[in-house]
Amino acid sequence: MIEELLPDAVVTVEAYGDEEPPNTVLYPEEEAVVAQAVGKRRREFAVVRSCARRAMDKLGVPPQPILPGERGAPTWPAGLVGSMTHCDGYSAAALVRATDLASLGIDAEPHGTLPEGVLSAVALPAEEIRLRRLADGHPGIHWDRLLFSAKESVYKAWFPLTGKWLDFTEADIDVFAAPGDRHSGGFRARLLVPGPWVGDRRVDLFEGRWTVRRGLVATAVSVPHT
Ligand SMILES: CC(C)(COP(=O)(O)OP(=O)(O)OC[C@H]1O[C@@H](n2cnc3c(N)ncnc32)[C@H](O)[C@@H]1OP(=O)(O)O)[C@@H](O)C(=O)NCCC(=O)NCCS
Repeated sequence: MIEELLPDAVVTVEAYGDEEPPNTVLYPEEEAVVAQAVGKRRREFAVVRSCARRAMDKLGVPPQPILPGERGAPTWPAGLVGSMTHCDGYSAAALVRATDLASLGIDAEPHGTLPEGVLSAVALPAEEIRLRRLADGHPGIHWDRLLFSAKESVYKAWFPLTGKWLDFTEADIDVFAAPGDRHSGGFRARLLVPGPWVGDRRVDLFEGRWTVRRGLVATAVSVPHT
């Protein structure tokens, strides 16, 4: 599902439902991170790392611990950039050589409406207006959840480039459906704060793609080299 949202150079590995991916054994230093965590957190932490290590393997990088770094961002081996996500029934990792992309972010959520009050906390007024228009044209999609997921993908791509927090209201996201396809499309995120430097250029717009499938909404942002 995530694969189709990202450029060909990106390697993705996913796990669905209760499927137990191979080798979910954690390294001792990873084990220490989740030693006090509840079972669900331990499982998602291990499953998504199993996905990421398989992606590393496909890129010819030896398996190694993936520790949370600053503000929880995963620390990748030198030469790789990537992102991970987990929600009920789904985990995914996406990795690419740093020579192929400057950054990427992925996110998956259950395809259901957001809890009461969340949309108004995360969406700009202009985004809410556009979501209402989208809902009129395509009522089968939970556009509120899709916007939320797109924002999280934007943050996951933004953070490794800047090392800074990005508030939900600091990116204005325009979501659109693909022509002739009601279950996938793209989005553009206009950064309302100075964007990150990529090479010798400031990037003020992130582009992403989305899909709704198997009861999930998935989004992905890729930031090319300038
Ligand atoms: C960090 C955050 C994006 C994670 O999203 P989530 O839907 O809660 O959880 P997901 O399962 O999809 O993703 C979790 C994974 O994100 C990754 N992650 C966590 N912090 C991160 C960061 N600062 N940068 C990049 N990736 C990060 C980790 O790999 C984590 O998995 P792990 O803890 O097992 O290693 C979210 O909790 C958050 O803090 N959001 C607020 C910031 C934001 O989204 N701003 C919007 C700007 S428009």
